[in-house]
Amino acid sequence: MREAMAELGEWYRERGRHELPWRGTRDPYAVFLSEVMLQQTQVERVRPYWERWMARWPSPAALAGSPLAEAIREWAGLGYNRRALHLHRAAVAVVERHDGAFPANEAAVRALPGAGEYTAAAVACFAGEVRTFVADTNIARVLARATVGVAAHRGLSRGALRTAGEALLPDADARSHNLALMDLGALVCTPRTPACDACPLARTCAWKAAGYPGAPPPAKPATPFETTARFARGRIVDALRRGPRLEAELRGALPPEHASRVEEYLAALARDGLVARAGEGWALPG
Ligand code: ADE
Repeated sequence: MREAMAELGEWYRERGRHELPWRGTRDPYAVFLSEVMLQQTQVERVRPYWERWMARWPSPAALAGSPLAEAIREWAGLGYNRRALHLHRAAVAVVERHDGAFPANEAAVRALPGAGEYTAAAVACFAGEVRTFVADTNIARVLARATVGVAAHRGLSRGALRTAGEALLPDADARSHNLALMDLGALVCTPRTPACDACPLARTCAWKAAGYPGAPPPAKPATPFETTARFARGRIVDALRRGPRLEAELRGALPPEHASRVEEYLAALARDGLVARAGEGWALPG
């Protein structure tokens, strides 16, 4: 497998997503922002948000100096609003702990709000050019297939994935290597319709050699988004972005099936710190 890494590198130089704006910077704050935005949102949706955010708050100090409510407003349309709260808290923590200089050290990033193991490794690797194992779901799927020979990474332990990933890490330029695996997973080695004919790892892929065992199951029918609590909470935050509202007004902003649960949604949002009581009603925090 290691011998196929030269082909992977060549594929990445020719086909990689080099134009993504967060790949043109080594600023750990900018990379952290991209990773938080990309956690649950697709690349093409994230791009304009990332650009606007960086223009408005080019440093942790700039973000920490703005009210939390402004960060939540700027997030409008991206979904999973808690990420805006985490980013703001992370910026405040960077100002307090690191004098405003966003760390590229894995342990220091990991200690920030909103940063998991993946995000910390991604910042260290993509901004700090640290040689470290990075595994988002795309990379994990490629490793599971190419090295272990199974269709998906779900059945593998973190330790098994890490062992497989670390064995492939090159001595130099682990950044390009990790980005290459990520792009391969996103563009070629996709969950349901992998384009093995176009894959630089096909010659050595363990999953291909084994005859593609456990080929991916058909997609589950999705629950209509409008019926979910996540949709309702998002609608409530959207309404409050425009200004304070009474509970009855918030109820009116939702499809009727959510009417009996508005109190519960508000309690959950308040627990998360995304909304706060304001007089008789509710508002964004701060
Ligand atoms: N480049 C760096 N990190 C990325 C990610 N999480 N998704 C897509 N492109 C990226």
